[in-house]
Amino acid sequence: MIIIPGSTSTALADKIVKSGGYEKADVERKAFPDGELYVRIKTDLRGKDVLTVCSTTSSSSVVELLLLLAAVRESEPRSVKCLIPYFGYSRQHKKYNEGEPVSSKAITLALERFCDSLITVDIHDEQTLSYSSKPFSNIRIEKPIGDYFSKKRIDYVFAPDDGGAAKAESVAKLLGVENRHMEKKRIDSNMVEMQLPEARLQGKNVLLVDDMISSGGTIIKAHKLLHDAGVKKVYVCAVHGIFANGSDARIASVADELVVTDTVEGKFSKISVAESIVGFLK
Ligand code: R5P
Repeated sequence: MIIIPGSTSTALADKIVKSGGYEKADVERKAFPDGELYVRIKTDLRGKDVLTVCSTTSSSSVVELLLLLAAVRESEPRSVKCLIPYFGYSRQHKKYNEGEPVSSKAITLALERFCDSLITVDIHDEQTLSYSSKPFSNIRIEKPIGDYFSKKRIDYVFAPDDGGAAKAESVAKLLGVENRHMEKKRIDSNMVEMQLPEARLQGKNVLLVDDMISSGGTIIKAHKLLHDAGVKKVYVCAVHGIFANGSDARIASVADELVVTDTVEGKFSKISVAESIVGFLK
C-alpha cells in the first residue's frame, strides 16, 4: 500500500508507513501567491492500493485533502482509502436550527466522491458514518491510553460529561479502576456548567479523559471541580488536542500532566494511534 501524507499528518503518516511496512508517496505542495493550494503526487500510483492520511484540522486542510484525493483518482489506482485521523466539522452532525447545514455530512459527501472507503478515529458522533454511501469506519482509541497510564497510579477515570462516559469506562477497565462521569451543561461555545458525581476523591489520583479538547473550557472546569474536591493529582488526556486559542498552555499549567494522541500533531501528542490504525488496516 502507498501512503499519501497530508501536511497536517506527516509524523503520523511516517509512523504508519514504518509500522505497516508500507511505501510513502513523494508529494509536492505549495501555495500560489493568492493563497490557493497546489499539490502534485510524484509517485506512480497506477494499479496500486492507496491510503491518504490527513486530519482536517482547518478549512484549508479540507481543501488539501480534496486536492490530494482528486490527484490520486487521476492516477488510476486500484483502490483508495481515505483516513481522516481527526475529522473536522464533526461536531455539527445534525441540524439544530432551521437553515443550518449538517456540516459533517457535507464534508463526508465531498470526500466519499473520491475514495472507496473512509476511516476515522474517535469521531465526535458516529451518526456521521451513516451519511456515507461508502464503507466508513471509526477506530476507537482506548488501549493506547490505558497502556500509557498503566505506568501511573490512577484511582479513578473521569469523563467530563455523559457523552464521554463509555470511553472513561473502557479506559478504567483497562486500568482496573473505577470510573465516573460529570454532568455538563454547555452555556455557549466557551462556557460550561458542571457537577461532580458522588465519589471519595480526597487524596486520590484521577485521570480525566475526553474525546477532544478545543477551547479547553470543559477540561479546565472539570479540573477545577476535582481539585476543589481534594484530588491529589489530575492527569488530563484526550484523543484529539485541537487546543484553540492556546488552551494547551492553560491546561498544562494546572494539570499534573496533559497528554493527547497524534491525530492532531503537537507538543502534547505523547500517544500514537499508528499501531491501532495499522492493526485495523491489516
Ligand atoms: C463534547 O461533547 C466533547 O466531548 C468535548 O468535551 C468538547 O468538544 C470539548 O470542547 P471544549 O474544549 O471547547 O470545551
